[in-house]
Amino acid sequence: MARQGRSRRQFLTQSLALAAVPAVGVSALASLVGCRQSRTGDWVDEARAEIPAASRYGYFQTAGIAPSPTPVLDVVAERLHYQNLGPAAGDIFGEMSPIEPNLRAHLASIFGAHPEEVALTHSTSEGINIASWSLNWTDGDEVIITNQEHPSNVIPWYNLRDRFGVQIRAVDFSAGADVVAGIQSELSGRTRMVSIPHVSRNNGRALTLQESGRIVKLLRPGGIRYHLDGAQGPGCVDFDFHALGCDAYSTCGHKWLLGPKGTGAFLVRREMLDETLMSWTGAHSHASMDYDGSYELLPAAARYEFGTRALADFAGFDAALSWMENLGFDRVVSRVQELAGYAAESARRFGYGLASPVGEGASGVVVLTLPDGTDATKVYNQLAEREGILGSPVRSPRDFRLAVHFFNTHDEIDAAFGAIERYLTQ
Ligand SMILES: Cc1ncc(COP(=O)(O)O)c(C=O)c1O
Repeated sequence: MARQGRSRRQFLTQSLALAAVPAVGVSALASLVGCRQSRTGDWVDEARAEIPAASRYGYFQTAGIAPSPTPVLDVVAERLHYQNLGPAAGDIFGEMSPIEPNLRAHLASIFGAHPEEVALTHSTSEGINIASWSLNWTDGDEVIITNQEHPSNVIPWYNLRDRFGVQIRAVDFSAGADVVAGIQSELSGRTRMVSIPHVSRNNGRALTLQESGRIVKLLRPGGIRYHLDGAQGPGCVDFDFHALGCDAYSTCGHKWLLGPKGTGAFLVRREMLDETLMSWTGAHSHASMDYDGSYELLPAAARYEFGTRALADFAGFDAALSWMENLGFDRVVSRVQELAGYAAESARRFGYGLASPVGEGASGVVVLTLPDGTDATKVYNQLAEREGILGSPVRSPRDFRLAVHFFNTHDEIDAAFGAIERYLTQ
């Protein structure tokens, strides 16, 4: 995971450099960024001051959709305006062009991958679809998922089941369940892929590096593909693509990385590139082509990208990575762990159950199991409408999710529990 590499000054300089274009004007930009000069004080307070949603709400919905910091939004707005001064003009086109390679390289450096292993996408779901369509499935082939999936790692498999007769097996990913043994017992001569969450949106369980390593050992000898749904991974738990060992990893910018909505990445191991077959393609996937039937794909994961794309959003994704890096991913993740532990302890004090693990396998996704007869969707509505506290119901009717990011505070967690308790005892 990235370290606290770059100083705030470097980041601001970089933001200014990114923003230093005729569309806005240097003095306007200086005042835009200047008001965010570092104040003395706690790093969390300083960061919160740049995330308007953090003081507007008790914002516990990072696992759904996260707020972006203002400097990130400014980069998106500025790049969008700049591009539209003349999208086809050589100078403007030329300045926009490095956005994608820069972002791939940045993601690679943060995620422990090589730049040619990174494709830019618009969502985690897009990556999951690249992975799920990367094999020539035949009737009776099997995929292993878990019982704690987001719909985006279920519906693609229903679709492949209905189109090609793919059989879906689900293993137990509840807190404490032995997922490695579960996978081992579901393996058969027809298993072709395992696609499971890095962190479940449903119960917050994070696959540990050790578990992931054991899964690799089970799958690799038989050439069974291993894909992780990492929507809730980077920024929420420690993350290193090669240390996890999976063949492919799908993630997004719009959750724990606080990037623009509609940004994501799909990572694939270099050695697996040619075996990770492509189902959708178009201009920009190719290194060369002619109109007589020949084409050659890019020798990199960028081959999974095609068509005209939202460069301003990708510039914002890059700025979000810098913003997070400036805080320090280690510092972010350890605060997430500390706050999640505090939330778990609060659940115990209030006598609620916990669907999420405590200690090993814990993440920032904390899922309370409320008392018998509670409808978590009603709790969600009540808290959102009356208290401005944004959590989320999940799959099980009594389960209520508080996604705890570094910008949340102990006071907010206390307020959330107080509000839940008030609502339950009303
Ligand atoms: C585990 C998981 N997978 C996939 C998704 C879908 O993410 P996206 O909206 O980036 O496609 C989510 C969104 O909440 C998720 O939590």
